[in-house]
Amino acid sequence: MALTQAQAQAQAQTGQTQPAIGYAFPSPAQKIESNRLDVQHRLLVLTANDQLHRAPLDPTSVRNALDIATGTGIWATEFAREFPAANTVGFDITSHPQHSAADIPSNCTFEVADMRNDATWSGEPDANAAWTMPKSVPYDYVHGRMLMAVVQDWPKLMARCYEKMAPGAWIEFQDLNLPMSTPDPECTAESSPMFTWAMLFHETFLKIGYDFGAAAQHAQRLRDAGFVDVQEFDGKWTVAGPVPDSDRERQMHEMAVSVVIDGVAGFTRKAFKEVLGWTDEQVDEVVAAVQHESRNGKYRIIANFKYVFGRKPL
Ligand SMILES: C[S@@+](CC[C@H](N)C(=O)[O-])C[C@H]1O[C@@H](n2cnc3c(N)ncnc32)[C@H](O)[C@@H]1O
Repeated sequence: MALTQAQAQAQAQTGQTQPAIGYAFPSPAQKIESNRLDVQHRLLVLTANDQLHRAPLDPTSVRNALDIATGTGIWATEFAREFPAANTVGFDITSHPQHSAADIPSNCTFEVADMRNDATWSGEPDANAAWTMPKSVPYDYVHGRMLMAVVQDWPKLMARCYEKMAPGAWIEFQDLNLPMSTPDPECTAESSPMFTWAMLFHETFLKIGYDFGAAAQHAQRLRDAGFVDVQEFDGKWTVAGPVPDSDRERQMHEMAVSVVIDGVAGFTRKAFKEVLGWTDEQVDEVVAAVQHESRNGKYRIIANFKYVFGRKPL
């Protein structure tokens, strides 16, 4: 199949390493995205059996915690409340009004920094970095969540974290793990717009170096980076299909549907236009079909998640 001009341009620019469009999602500071991230946060906590983390943290030994690409900062804020003896730092390329809200606990701070910038990790003050991680602070827990459209080089990120961590410290990534799945044999790419969209979405981001199935390799990559005691916890969201009976499942289903409905246009538009050469009208059509199926679809469709954690050796 011939490449569109936009595809060819994107591929030429990437050379499979440099992103053509970089981070393609909406800014966390936009109201609808900010609200969506907070609902997504609540749902990720519910999915993890009401926990902010799956790593077996000892509250007495976590003195410094780091949240990479913190978004609205809601995870870091709640972690700081749960671990009052720890200093928690969240950083993001975008600042968010919530980072300076009056109710942020005093042991939680937020910084603006680009995780792709070497200087951010260098430990040396640098004119090219808004913030650099202080050399004197070894982190006891490093957390990164929903970074599928942010990280291209996972081994590099894991190696950087390893350097900044104390012996015995834990690291944890919580990410979506495409492809979607279904228990319903009749749900296929032909019969389900959401299934078709999810496959195309996965392929499109792979073309520009972002793997929405990267979480499947997190455990091995953590081991390769030198971490030990690596474990995985699998989570599932029902993003379409019959409404469950139990209150908890029903609440989670409603939240998952709202995360899809509020997010799908923002996830899709830029990448499908720039990489696939789609028009706004084509994007609108697929977005509307996915939103409709999420709310009204007859097939049960599951979005899979992995919470993967490991420890730096003592
Ligand atoms: C999908 S959001 C996840 C936010 C948060 N981790 C959560 O789970 O709620 C991705 C975040 O990555 C941030 N981001 C994107 N590129 C970044 C970069 N190069 N350095 C730091 N943060 C970045 C975005 O601003 C956004 O807040």
